[in-house]
Amino acid sequence: MPATERLQIMRPRLPAAAAILSYLEEIDRTRWYTNFGPLVSRFEHRLAEHFGVDPARVVCVANCTLGIAIALRARDPVAGGLCAVPSWTFIATPAAVRLAGLVPWFLDVDRDTWRLHPDTVLKALEDAPGQVSAVVPVSPFGNPVDIDAWNAFEAERGIPVAIDAAAGFDSAVAGNAPLAISLHATKTLGIGEGGIVLARDSRQAERIRRMSNFGLASDRRAIFVGVNAKLSEYAAAVGLASLDAWPEIRALYQGSAERYRAALARLPEIATAPGFGRGAANATCNIVLGQPLADRVIQRLNRAEIEARQWWVKGCHRHPAYVDCPRTALPETEFLAERVIGLPYFPDITDGEIERVAQSLAAALSQSE
Ligand SMILES: Cc1ncc(COP(=O)(O)O)c(C=O)c1O
Repeated sequence: MPATERLQIMRPRLPAAAAILSYLEEIDRTRWYTNFGPLVSRFEHRLAEHFGVDPARVVCVANCTLGIAIALRARDPVAGGLCAVPSWTFIATPAAVRLAGLVPWFLDVDRDTWRLHPDTVLKALEDAPGQVSAVVPVSPFGNPVDIDAWNAFEAERGIPVAIDAAAGFDSAVAGNAPLAISLHATKTLGIGEGGIVLARDSRQAERIRRMSNFGLASDRRAIFVGVNAKLSEYAAAVGLASLDAWPEIRALYQGSAERYRAALARLPEIATAPGFGRGAANATCNIVLGQPLADRVIQRLNRAEIEARQWWVKGCHRHPAYVDCPRTALPETEFLAERVIGLPYFPDITDGEIERVAQSLAAALSQSE
């Protein structure tokens, strides 16, 4: 019997070499390879169009993790203080908080949106275990954060906010808080490694830009403690080619989400992640089981040669490197940790592949009862 082919959880599709070539040839001509070159500048202008903001507010960075860290640092949070973050996020969020010199303080999310709500922070502040210097709300798998609510939170409490919208290329809205987006290969607009920060205004963007270049001012003196988080011209070449293909990639993602939702609708005991397939393109397909059976169902899918995983494992508070961080009670995070599963999903997933996932999932769920 032929072995069943393994269905990977993700099969990213970045621009083909031919689509990048003309941009690479520009690099050959200019011999400008990094440090805010012409392709990065053009990429930032096109991104500004995409997000409907002034180009002076857009800063490309080497990846979203560094983008969050320097966006946070640009807010001048009280050093060594706590930074409220949801535990229900990818480990990059607390990693960026640590890089910014703050201590992650894990808070719970809302079950329906998977997001940290400003009211949760306001309530937790009453018993905070130290000085709270900042907040990093997360846009979970691209489900956009409520920008107005965070603008109001910051205005009311004076605690700086920086937003992790890593998966939010197609859903992010720029507000008063700087917002970081990932261009990792696993994201909808993938370029390999890269990120974008949408700043509040040109002044904040300039600060972030300088921080991405060792904190140097134009006279080459460091006026901020910075890092190296610049995007190279080569990465910008891929970015420009990726943007050229964006309408096609977006339509593919949206079509796949629609077909997936239709197939999964046959399984009444599961729901898709908030926001999945409801307008903005997503690069991952997550489901919530009716029962706390995530580990068992993943094992069964993997045995059927269908790769499934928990993208965010069991919440950041359970990672060994972060178990000592302070936290509130996290009942909703624990709820999601036992129920959320990432399924195979990519722009050109076929009907046959979706059907195979739906059938194996139905079989895995029936075995679990
Ligand atoms: C929620 C979240 N934050 C941050 C990141 C980090 O992005 P990058 O890989 O560009 O550093 C990711 C990456 O997947 C993420 O999912």
